[in-house]
This record gives sequence, structure tokens and C-alpha cells, in this order.
Amino acid sequence: MTAPLFSPSLIPVSIQSQLPSGYKVRPLERTDYGLGFLDVLRVLTTVGDISEEAWTERYDWMAEHSSEYFIVCVEDDSGKVVGVGSLVVERKFLRNLAACGHIEDIAVASEQQGKKLGLLIIQTLDAIAQAVGCYKAILDCSEKNRPFYEKCGYKLAGIQMARYYDGSTPKDAPKEST
Ligand code: ACO
Repeated sequence: MTAPLFSPSLIPVSIQSQLPSGYKVRPLERTDYGLGFLDVLRVLTTVGDISEEAWTERYDWMAEHSSEYFIVCVEDDSGKVVGVGSLVVERKFLRNLAACGHIEDIAVASEQQGKKLGLLIIQTLDAIAQAVGCYKAILDCSEKNRPFYEKCGYKLAGIQMARYYDGSTPKDAPKEST
């Protein structure tokens, strides 16, 4: 096992105990390329053809910024990654140098949806955000996913605006417009 992206102690034990038997929620690890991490992300949107070398380079960059990037994986009882989610911590000047959490790239493998894994991923990211001092966490989602986030305790707080620099428009953007 390689060193995880962040300390597993940031993940409350109470969340582990709510997962199906044999499942666990843990920080991303350098070896997750081979355990299905990118396949789970493909449930959400286009991922592209990423080599293991490119994955490792990106992982190492995130590990160097480990006080900003908190990516969690849910692993099933066979060791496969079946759920993922990210928290990116933005440091601000306002509110006396506050920190704001951005919840990003939440996905659960299609055959594993409906088992509360998404809810537990959000609860994990909420717990980490609070533990590292964020005063709030925010996220963007489609109208379709709004009921899910409301069940996770999130409330509508404005609208999302986007401008794409690659020529696409939010309407063209695949799936969740990430
Ligand atoms: N509409 C209404 N209710 C929903 C929806 C939905 N689309 N999705 C989940 N729920 C409800 C469930 O019924 C459950 O309610 P209950 O507690 O009353 O039984 C509750 O929300 C929790 O559901 P989970 O079982 O935890 O949801 P799941 O594990 O299936 O994960 C997720 C939800 C992440 C949206 C999953 O369906 C998924 O991966 N979808 C495809 C990718 C995606 O759209 N990701 C979100 C992108 S937005 C972002 O990343 C910030």
C-alpha cells in the first residue's frame, strides 16, 4: 500500500460503520488507477484515455498540495473502487482569511447506486471540510441531482454560471457539465 493522499484519521469512524459489510471509505491512493477509479468517474462525465504515467503525475501533484485536495474512494468488499468524491479547499482573504470547500466529481458506479454510498461520500467530505476549517462547502449540480443533495443537507444558494474556453457550451457539455 502506498501513502494515501491525506490522513485517514480525517474520516469519521461513524461513517465506516454505516457502509455495507466489507466496504470502506478511504483517501485516494497512488495505486487506485488499477482499481477502477477512472471507470467510476466515467459515470459522471467524459474522462478521456489517461495513461497510468499521466495519472501518477497528476496524483503526485495533488499529493504535493494535500492541504487543498481531499479525494475519497469507496471500496467494495472485493477491493474495487465503486464510489468517488472530491473536496477542494480554497483559501480566501475574506471572513478573516476563511477557507471554503468545493465539493466536486461525486460519482457512484451504476450498479452500486441506491445503497447510500453517495450520501456517505458527501457526509465524509462534509466532515473533512469542517475538520480542516472550512466555513461552508458549495457545489454545482444538475436539477436532476438537486433532490439528492437536498437529502444530503444542501440548500439552493444561487445559480451556476459557466463559460467554456474549449468552444463548447454548457448545453453541449456531457452529462453533469463538468
Ligand atoms: N433524485 C432523487 N433522489 C435521489 C437521487 C435523484 N437523482 N439520487 C439519490 N437520491 C436519493 C436516494 O433515493 C436516497 O434517498 P433516501 O435517503 O430517502 O432513501 C438519498 O438520495 C441518498 O441516495 P444514495 O443511495 O446515497 O445515492 P447514490 O449512492 O445512488 O449516489 C449519485 C447518488 C452520486 C448522484 C449517483 O446517482 C451518481 O453517481 N450519479 C451519476 C453521477 C452524478 O450525477 N454525480 C453527481 C454530480 S454533481 C457533483 O459532482 C457536485
